[in-house]
Amino acid sequence: MSLTRKKDISAMIAASQQGTGLARNLGAIDLTFLGIGAIIGTGIFVLTGTGALTAGPGLIVSFILSAIACALAALAYAEFASTIPVSGSVYTYTYATMGEIFAWVIGWNLILEYGLASSAVAAGWSGYFQSLMAGFGLHLPTALTAAPGAVEGQSTFFNLPAFLIVAIITLLLSLGIKETKRVNNIMVVIKLAVVVLFIVVGVGYVEPTNWTPFTPFGWGGVFSGAAIVFFAYIGFDAVTSAAEEVRDPQKNLPRGIIGSLAVCTILYVIVAAIMTGIVPYQQFAGVDHPVSLALQLAGQNWVAGFVDLGAILGITTVILVMTYGMVRLAFAISRDGMFPKVFSEIHPKYKTPFKATWMIGLTSATIAGFVPLNVIADLVNMGTLAAFVLISVAVLILRKTQPDLPRAFKCPGMPYVPIAAIASCLFLMFNLKIETWIAFFIWFAIGLVLYFAFARRNSNLETGQTPAAEFAPTKED
Ligand code: ALA
Repeated sequence: MSLTRKKDISAMIAASQQGTGLARNLGAIDLTFLGIGAIIGTGIFVLTGTGALTAGPGLIVSFILSAIACALAALAYAEFASTIPVSGSVYTYTYATMGEIFAWVIGWNLILEYGLASSAVAAGWSGYFQSLMAGFGLHLPTALTAAPGAVEGQSTFFNLPAFLIVAIITLLLSLGIKETKRVNNIMVVIKLAVVVLFIVVGVGYVEPTNWTPFTPFGWGGVFSGAAIVFFAYIGFDAVTSAAEEVRDPQKNLPRGIIGSLAVCTILYVIVAAIMTGIVPYQQFAGVDHPVSLALQLAGQNWVAGFVDLGAILGITTVILVMTYGMVRLAFAISRDGMFPKVFSEIHPKYKTPFKATWMIGLTSATIAGFVPLNVIADLVNMGTLAAFVLISVAVLILRKTQPDLPRAFKCPGMPYVPIAAIASCLFLMFNLKIETWIAFFIWFAIGLVLYFAFARRNSNLETGQTPAAEFAPTKED
């Protein structure tokens, strides 16, 4: 069947072993840092407000439910990603094992994850940037502060700061400047520091009466809240992408995944409890910087300023990771012939996919400018959850069809863990809004049309071409 035609797996394994030669020097702590760097961002700093409006103080439980789904999916994901850790990650691997159409569908969903996530994260960045500027008495014209329809009762036209931050990151990436391990570690420390600062200062202002009623919208609200704040955990897949550089991956990979998820879950639950304890949840309506707002309402304006600054710096690195991931994915799909060649052209001087970076970056920036955060974030969640479901299914199938394939990391508790991952991700998907489902189906349909109209005909497996350009992103530090 040509729909399930596959890339040659042994050639890919050989290429991946020969091409990278990366040293295995990352341990569990490094991985935990890597994960936290990619995870903490707009989710906790902004979407907690939306989550609180949906779940009430029950948001605390929403964060726990979402974390459980993530941990299960992450274990399945890790087996998949660690088997052939090459550029393009699970997309490339699906291509070798399940066939072209599956690879396309997973790749198409990951585009939603990476491409739209940077828009969503940038919209969150903008809220904190404006809050910080307001602290200095500087205000943008209202029309340029948010996407159309983002703030009820206000006529807004374009989110200028969100557009600009993605454009600046695009410029850096196109010139070949990437986040290094050192920068990542500094950012992680800053992010953790502002979250802990919020907790330490905020706890004194908690009024337990704000926690009753705990679930004003019932369990339905708590489940919908879980589907919204799932966004806050996205990024832990960054841990699995380092599989080739991990010492003793069988032990350290799950420790890194579970470690970063555990740290974030604990912090998120405490932040949710304190936020909803300081401010009656109704007051988060229309607020795009809820964490610092809670401190402002408590009269702690200075601390709120520090939180704004930390959030801005911390969220910036998430935009960088997401945009870079998207460019890398488009590069891999283009090398296989299924995206136009321009996505895998390398700039002679900067040695980056320069044109692709700008096309993708400007698209993300424009979406960040024009579409409200909640709409994008829900769609990102949908795409990511769908990809996790497919990956968990693939893990089960491959254990049956290719039991002897060398796997750097094996998912524990087979087959129950992937089955539980599928069930919990589907559960969260069904708790997203109907509008999100409609948008997702439209995205899916566009993907299928593109596959049959372009990708299938131009695939290297159809044309017999071998890719010319080689882009092996270097790992720094
Ligand atoms: N988890 C990332 C964030 O919250 C995407 O910004």
